[in-house]
Amino acid sequence: AIIVTSGIRGTFFDFIDDPWKHVGREEDSARFLRDGLLVIEDGVIVAFGPFDEVSPLHPDLDITEIRGRIITPGFIDGHVHVPQTRALGAFGEQLLPWLLDTVFPEEARYSDRDYARAGSDRFLENMLAAGTTTVQAFTTTSTVAVEEFFEAAARRDMLVISGVTGIDQFAPEGSTSTPEEFYADSKAMIAKYHGKGRNRYAITPRFALGASDELLKACQRLKKEHPDLWVNTHISENPLEISNLLLAHPDCTDYLGVYEKYELVGPKFSGGHAVWLSDNEFGRLSDSGGAVVFCPCSNLFLGSGIFRLAKATDPDKRVKMSFGTDMGGGNRFSMIHVLDEAYKVGMLGNTLLDGTTNRITQDLAAAERSKLSPYRAFWSVTLGGAEGLYIDDQVGNFEVGKSADFVALDWNAGPSAMPWHQSLFFDEAGPTTMEEAAHALFAVMMVGDDRNVDETWVSGVRLYKKD
Ligand code: GUN
Ligand code: ZN
Repeated sequence: AIIVTSGIRGTFFDFIDDPWKHVGREEDSARFLRDGLLVIEDGVIVAFGPFDEVSPLHPDLDITEIRGRIITPGFIDGHVHVPQTRALGAFGEQLLPWLLDTVFPEEARYSDRDYARAGSDRFLENMLAAGTTTVQAFTTTSTVAVEEFFEAAARRDMLVISGVTGIDQFAPEGSTSTPEEFYADSKAMIAKYHGKGRNRYAITPRFALGASDELLKACQRLKKEHPDLWVNTHISENPLEISNLLLAHPDCTDYLGVYEKYELVGPKFSGGHAVWLSDNEFGRLSDSGGAVVFCPCSNLFLGSGIFRLAKATDPDKRVKMSFGTDMGGGNRFSMIHVLDEAYKVGMLGNTLLDGTTNRITQDLAAAERSKLSPYRAFWSVTLGGAEGLYIDDQVGNFEVGKSADFVALDWNAGPSAMPWHQSLFFDEAGPTTMEEAAHALFAVMMVGDDRNVDETWVSGVRLYKKD
């Protein structure tokens, strides 16, 4: 085979550690290269560093210069629904009626192969236009939907985690399967897709309320037979959902306990939302190595609640965490919008949850953790998200050996006042220090939006260019 080596020259910003571990010195978690060079061979990073140091080691390199942009690792969406691409932004309901009225009817269409293919392509094109290069995604109970999604991702060489949805109750016929069908379909899809190219398989019970004892036992058996698989589900999203679930599992004291009963909680487990988890559940998740996915657009759009960012980031019981759109429960495709809402949830959490307005109960360290700085924010959608999904050996930053998945952000795009706003922090030449670049990134997430995404690259190939 021909080995293709190429270089990207530009301004790079990535992370080498968790900024929540560097309170007061968050720059220590990040890397900023004003003039950097990324060397790529067959889609994989083989060298990265200052241009002046790296370029002499790679003479004759075919270099693409990306000017006037900040290049970050591609965004990771830890929780999103492929077959809701058409149905986002539905008026008026909270989780359970929203599922019944809007979601299940649309998802049922993905049993049709042409519809599933077109929907998967539209989904991934929207993700790439938002700067997202990796997703952990739900499809449907239909193997057709799973096949078309994995094939669509493989055509773009994107790292994705997905699997057959397991739901055998709390949904109309046509949106469910039996535990036997779910088990057999999962086995077939695991054999066909797991570890093929960049496809990864997740055992996917949709949520505990939609799963009988037999269905959860099928998940348990699959995890026993394939311990290296992911487990992707929802947890503790909506108060009505939670109270209904506990009626069905009187032997469990809480939501996490249901997944623990079937031995699903541990490394590579992700529970989307986790809005109403108790301190005890957060503690058990921390001990297990399982992850939560913070989905603020969805938690606000569906009125689910205020995620406890300070609790998840408590250094004594730190929980692995990725961020997700949860599109179409979330009303946006973009992780930049997720960061916008995540910041506001953190600020609101300080007012409502962690007692900063009450001097008797206030916890100032918790209040500080709730503030989503640009370091914490962009770490969470890159390296932190990768750690939450246990894929940080492959993506998340510009370490040698990882895939060349990245996004070029135009800090002056967005609303027309953006260049003037950015000129508060640096001149037209752009950010020259890490601190200035962090200002630029914070403005992207709070003042800008997905218009700031100018180019998106996957495995060293440009798959999206704005306009
Ligand atoms: N719980 C079960 N299914 C879903 C879904 O599709 N979206 C959200 N947000 N929560 C769920
Ligand atoms: Zn979801």
